[in-house]
Amino acid sequence: MTAAGEPGSRPTSSPPHAAGAGPRGARGVLQRMDKGQLRHVVAVGSGKGGVGKSSVTALLAAELRRRGRTVGILDADITGPSIPKLLGMTGPLTDRGEGIEPAISRTGIPVVSSQFMVEDEQTPVIWRGPLVTRLITQFFGGVHWGALDYLLIDMPPGTSDVPLTVFQTIPIDGMVFVLTPQDLAALIVKKAMNMARDLHVPLLGLVENMGFLVCPHCGERIELFGRGRVEAIAGEYGVPFLGRVPVDPRMSGLSDAGDLPEFHSPDTEALASRLEESVEAQAKARPMTL
Ligand SMILES: Nc1ncnc2c1ncn2[C@@H]1O[C@H](COP(=O)(O)OP(=O)(O)O)[C@@H](O)[C@H]1O
Ligand SMILES: [Mg+2]
Repeated sequence: MTAAGEPGSRPTSSPPHAAGAGPRGARGVLQRMDKGQLRHVVAVGSGKGGVGKSSVTALLAAELRRRGRTVGILDADITGPSIPKLLGMTGPLTDRGEGIEPAISRTGIPVVSSQFMVEDEQTPVIWRGPLVTRLITQFFGGVHWGALDYLLIDMPPGTSDVPLTVFQTIPIDGMVFVLTPQDLAALIVKKAMNMARDLHVPLLGLVENMGFLVCPHCGERIELFGRGRVEAIAGEYGVPFLGRVPVDPRMSGLSDAGDLPEFHSPDTEALASRLEESVEAQAKARPMTL
């Protein structure tokens, strides 16, 4: 997809400059890069894959745009990229000398993803760790993001090298965790949250995915695993509970068609408004530095 037909939806200003680590430079890799004109940088993570992290990232982006915000997505799941598919994008990424130009979705969301760097959807990204971590750095500091209200980062799952690189090099405001109620027994969720906390990354909130479904006949909410378990974990960690996304068969059809941003309900709307509240509260809580 290109920005054609969507004038004004594309960021036009200069890229955020990497402090110490230029787009190509590995120098100062453990130094956090500069935020440039990105107002808020929010990572979306999970303990493990398949919990709906990419779907929630795409839904949040769509809802933030409905609220009038400018939003981009950095797909940091280098070996399992799925944002392009959910938004119906094929790239390519271009570089006209000013930094990498993101691809723009049909609804005006700039995206960078490793998916745009392989021939087709079936080609796997098989890269060694150091290359993956370098690419993440470049996807942030080397991209012409322009001025955005939000840059959302779709994180790879777990506590490996890549999340560590993101935490250490990208100036993220905080992290949203997506979890399904049935994951709670698995300590991996808590491990991933503890990793963020240990690295002083604020936890902006938890999102419950696939905990209930709405009966298509009578509209009743059917709780699949009992209600309130994810909310209870949020309470335990002292982080906001951003809300719940139901299991909904329409989601797979829209995802296959690259139209996930069309999935829209009061539940998804609430996620974005609570995220904004949490981001603002976090910004106020942070001591001013000169
Ligand atoms: N709320 C939901 N209802 C129905 N299907 C969902 C929901 N959330 C995610 N899925 C499906 O589950 C699969 C995994 O979701 P994805 O967002 O790719 O997870 P992750 O990024 O955590 O690996 C996808 O096929 C997606 O369409
Ligand atoms: Mg994913």
